[in-house]
Amino acid sequence: MPDGMNINYDGLIPNNVDLNADLRVRKALETWHPGYIDWWKDMGPEGFQESLVYLRTAIGVDPKGWAKFDYVKMPEYKWGILLAPAVEGRTIPFGKHKGEPAWQEVPGEYRAMLRRLITVQGDTEPASVEQQRHLGATAPSLYDLRNLFQVNVEEGRHLWAMVYLLHKYFGNDGREEAEELLARRSGHKDTPRMLGAFNEATPDWLSFFMFTFFTDRDGKMQLEALAQSGFDPLSRTCRFMLTEEAHHMFVGDSGVQRVVERTVEAMKAAGITDPNDIAAVRALGVIDLPTIQKKMNLHFSLTLDLFGNEISTNAANAFNAGIKGRYREDKLEDDHSLIDATYPVLRYVDGKFVEEPVPALSALNLRLRNDYVQDCNSGVTRWNRVIEKAGYDFRLALPHVAFNRAIGEFSSIHTDIAGNVLSDAEWQARKGEFLPDDADAQYITSLMVPVTENGKYAGWIAAPKVGIDNKPGDFEYVQIVQ
Ligand SMILES: [Fe+2]
Ligand SMILES: [Fe+2]
Repeated sequence: MPDGMNINYDGLIPNNVDLNADLRVRKALETWHPGYIDWWKDMGPEGFQESLVYLRTAIGVDPKGWAKFDYVKMPEYKWGILLAPAVEGRTIPFGKHKGEPAWQEVPGEYRAMLRRLITVQGDTEPASVEQQRHLGATAPSLYDLRNLFQVNVEEGRHLWAMVYLLHKYFGNDGREEAEELLARRSGHKDTPRMLGAFNEATPDWLSFFMFTFFTDRDGKMQLEALAQSGFDPLSRTCRFMLTEEAHHMFVGDSGVQRVVERTVEAMKAAGITDPNDIAAVRALGVIDLPTIQKKMNLHFSLTLDLFGNEISTNAANAFNAGIKGRYREDKLEDDHSLIDATYPVLRYVDGKFVEEPVPALSALNLRLRNDYVQDCNSGVTRWNRVIEKAGYDFRLALPHVAFNRAIGEFSSIHTDIAGNVLSDAEWQARKGEFLPDDADAQYITSLMVPVTENGKYAGWIAAPKVGIDNKPGDFEYVQIVQ
């Protein structure tokens, strides 16, 4: 790697923040860079570091500049620092400072809050790379392998984006946080990542698709809320990250859809009429729909916990301060201060689910979660269309929001996926009906054999309809060098 100080950062780090003119931040990033590369080599994708991967690199934020495709070795990927263009005369869109000019510097009174939000967001980015590091060995095709690596390098870039903000606006504290972001490890018993779902394993490709569908979508919701921020550099950073995030969700959404497609296609060809005849479906070497449902149950419930407590003073404070808004705040038509508004919160009280109106300011985590659930449902509807078209009356569905929760209103109860409350004993006896068990994991693992021939796909997943960057079906997305 470059030996420290002589890096031409104009070339190495594409940026639109005039890094060349900002000696202090440039120095700080130069000092952080070798540690980042060490982290990438230790905790980034296992193997394939010498392979040429057909990747998209963002070198600018205009529609032409942000998607340059070329063969790149991952450690040589240009992790840029790119902010969406400034909006002339932008004002703080919500909270008690609504209408004041957006902040270009960190307001002293909100420094701790902002630093925390940026650090938590930043922590999720390298975490997912760590979670996905073993998947290259079992990719179902070169197309999928390339998509995995694209997601990985972009999560790396998202880490850069947050680290830039920490170095630029938070002085020594920011530098320390940036170091810590390279020190924590997903799933580590002493130094885990900050949020639960980012310490779970991503053991197979169906998990990867579920993760990018459900958990990257939480990322999208958080970025959408931060893109509304009155702290303009954060807003601009998140707005650009969202363009990349869309691809991650495409990978998950289309990935699950291709699994479903292949399953129903194989079932039809074999004349299987009962989607719940798991043994018969598995004998075909495809993933049965009930197991896909179980994976959904797991990843959806783990991800809901990322939204935090339904009723939260922190969320209220962040909104009031103008730091973190609602999903599509700028499209909502109300007073954007929510002082007198209420919002219905689903709670579990005296053995029943009830909806209670609470001050809207304290219910912002729940509101974002509700928007998220709606967003998830549009994907599930698409998957169900594939099943319906194949003539099966099985339907995938999101589990009840109280199912398998560790945080918030429902963390102290157990329910089935329909939301019927279960005793501890019932839960223990029945959780294998709802969540993947060892036998499911073993079966899925048995399917995870790598396919590295151009244009070929593992038997459990359909080929995509179109290639990346409109490439033909037999395109060599990864030139593997062992
Ligand atoms: Fe990200
Ligand atoms: Fe992502």
